[in-house]
Amino acid sequence: MRFGHFDDERREYVIDRPDTPLPWINYLGTEAYFGIISNTAGGYSFYRDARLRRLTRYRYNNAPMDLGGRYIYLRDEAEFWSPTWQPTQTELDDYECRHGLSYTRVASRYRGIKAETLYFVPLGETLEVWRLKVTNERDTAVSLSAFSSIEFCLWDAQDDATNYQRNFNTGQVEVVDGVIYHKTEYRERRDHFAYFACSEPLAGFDTSREAFLGPYRSWDRPLAVERGESGDSIAHGWQPHGSHHVKLTLEPGETREIGFVLGYWENPRDAKFDPPGSQTINKAGAQAKVATWLAQETVDAGLAALAARWEELLGGLRVQTPDADTDRMVNIWNAYQNMVTFNMSRSTSLYESGIGRGMGFRDSNQDLLGFVHMIPERARERILDIAATQLPTGGAYHQYQPLTKRGNNDIGSGFNDDPLWLILGVSAYIKESGDWSILDEPVPFDNAPGSEQSLYEHLKLSLRYTTERLGPHGLPLIGRADWNDCLNLNCFSDTPGEPFQTTENATGGVAESVFIAGQFVLAARSLAELAVHKDDDPAAYLTAAEKMTGSIAEHGWDGAWFRRAYDFHGNVIGSASNDEGQIFIEPQGMCIMGGVGLDDGTAVRALASVRERLATPHGIVLQQPAFSSYRIELGEISSYPPGYKENAGIFCHTNPWLMIAEAMVGNGDGAFDYYKRINPSAREEIGDLHRCEPYVYAQMIAGRDAPTHGEAKNSWLTGTAAWNYAAVTQWILGIRPELSGLRIAPVIPSSWSGFSAVRRFRGATYTITVQKEPGVSATSCSLVVDGVPVDGGVLPVAPAGSSVQVEAHLS
Ligand code: GLC
Ligand code: GLC
Repeated sequence: MRFGHFDDERREYVIDRPDTPLPWINYLGTEAYFGIISNTAGGYSFYRDARLRRLTRYRYNNAPMDLGGRYIYLRDEAEFWSPTWQPTQTELDDYECRHGLSYTRVASRYRGIKAETLYFVPLGETLEVWRLKVTNERDTAVSLSAFSSIEFCLWDAQDDATNYQRNFNTGQVEVVDGVIYHKTEYRERRDHFAYFACSEPLAGFDTSREAFLGPYRSWDRPLAVERGESGDSIAHGWQPHGSHHVKLTLEPGETREIGFVLGYWENPRDAKFDPPGSQTINKAGAQAKVATWLAQETVDAGLAALAARWEELLGGLRVQTPDADTDRMVNIWNAYQNMVTFNMSRSTSLYESGIGRGMGFRDSNQDLLGFVHMIPERARERILDIAATQLPTGGAYHQYQPLTKRGNNDIGSGFNDDPLWLILGVSAYIKESGDWSILDEPVPFDNAPGSEQSLYEHLKLSLRYTTERLGPHGLPLIGRADWNDCLNLNCFSDTPGEPFQTTENATGGVAESVFIAGQFVLAARSLAELAVHKDDDPAAYLTAAEKMTGSIAEHGWDGAWFRRAYDFHGNVIGSASNDEGQIFIEPQGMCIMGGVGLDDGTAVRALASVRERLATPHGIVLQQPAFSSYRIELGEISSYPPGYKENAGIFCHTNPWLMIAEAMVGNGDGAFDYYKRINPSAREEIGDLHRCEPYVYAQMIAGRDAPTHGEAKNSWLTGTAAWNYAAVTQWILGIRPELSGLRIAPVIPSSWSGFSAVRRFRGATYTITVQKEPGVSATSCSLVVDGVPVDGGVLPVAPAGSSVQVEAHLS
């Protein structure tokens, strides 16, 4: 069952009923001011840091799940309703939400009143614009009231949600010329405030939530709206709120527009108050913004600028294949999701509260794969930020804080895969950009001034971190966990609530990871490639990779697949000899991506085992059989009921590794088959089962052991986005940046007769046409570049600004 449809032309997803199985959200903002917005206008906004600079309040895990947001109420003489359906849930005569690239429009009709609200954050601004358009389609004139409504958050979202004994006393606002200013804590150490303005003369306003809602009432029937009159309330403590009341009379057929601007403003400390010495905030800067952004022409121009920005970003790669799901994901939504993960990391979604997690060291390095071709300069910056948190041992903080860019001490270090991701991130960046200078950038350790060494030295140390930490089988020690955060082999926790990932009740030099071994081989080979260019000797890295490959062959191969790990006691995990958890997906993907088993048939054997034992119609599960009970020696993985998350859920992040592995062994049908199983657009028809947005990847789909097999959770902020993008564009379509240029090596389904693509690469534009006899599986690719045959499969790097025509023939 569908709840909407794709409008590929306009790059929008159109939701045509408000009661989607879960709130289906979109993101506003692309630079510093951000928000999430649901299809019924729920959500919240923040400046830079979702925890520390939260503008509007949101209650997670609410009932209904999505309540609180950027609401507008309309009222005629008879009744009131929400044109975005929530929060009154009045049955609308029609409803349509269009989530576009960094904007959302919700339109509806109720008893002859048409209302459309547009929400977006203009480029370069720290504010959001709402634009309400109301049309009277009745045949008589109508007197309407419109009420806006937001609830202010007292800035620190964590404190706001917990510290009431203080917070019920601190709230302060000002209302001047109809603009509502939220200034809690401005009197002391904050230099910032929020403002909320409306384009029309006000009939009234409210800044006290209780005055607006009325005691014992919720958002579905605010007293001010019910009575048709605001209280002109000024909040003193409790819950500061923002509501404007506008009255308008519309003749039949008449349309009126009302603009709202909600913004963040920061003053220099010595210019906080006006007049100086008073307690009145200096509003000059904010007033100028209000004047600018309430003007219709500015709004139109701002929207056009935003569209142009997306046109430019998405112009990095456009494809036309025989498959509509592939095209719209690659050309629009997957690229968009990649940019969202760049901006949000794992902080803000319906499933990430914006409070808990900072930027992950491993996550950020992987997210890079999805956005590096769109914003290479920002990728460069990101890499240097990440590398600056590396520890002098070569180890890494697991996370760092976006506002301070410092490593996060609460989580600390000891996830032994982390440092290796840096090598893979940097290598991806250089392959895309050709910018070798990044390797010479001086980068500190643990942000300590004076500790700088070149980024290249950081990478060498990352590799050494592994070789200095090998276990009894010559495989890397796992530490607290590897990519699988929930495989906690040194934890042994029997205390409720104890964090699995930071508890080490047993410190053993024994528990090893075959996943990290595969990742090490991939990283060591990548570093060797970089070394050649640096005139450094790659031999040591290649030898280390060989040696690790030997250890995998000897202790990491189970006979039909790669093993997963050895536990604290030296017992094997991910082996036919286990009763549960016999085969895991991660080492199959990572070892093969590292090139392990490609020359001796083990890769192909492992892939057959995955297909036999792990693949389901909804994607490939993480392991089998699921753990049926808690196992203290394995940790959090066995804390989940079977089929969810790491305990045999379809952890979508890992699936593209298998697509890549299938492509590496030349199986285009197999790779594409896996791709389609989790492609959200291809799952649109089963929206009632899938439940999450059909336009973005979710982190997890419930596995075959789960009672809700096929149900997705944790949409948006997941490494799934970057990896799927890499898998389909670089390995299936085979347009793959390498150090020496762009490789063209498609491994496409046998039924296809080809595809075309336009790829921007190091400033040049390549128009690529790929052809193949339909019905055959191709194994080789011949290239003609601007009419001249080229050997070796790699396009020579063309001068920036030039256009290159590429014809590829697969046979
Ligand atoms: C989450 C984490 C990621 C981890 C994965 C598997 O997606 O963000 O870092 O690798 O779970 O546990
Ligand atoms: C992590 C993981 C996630 C896991 C969660 C549980 O951050 O990456 O996948 O299930 O912790 O606490």
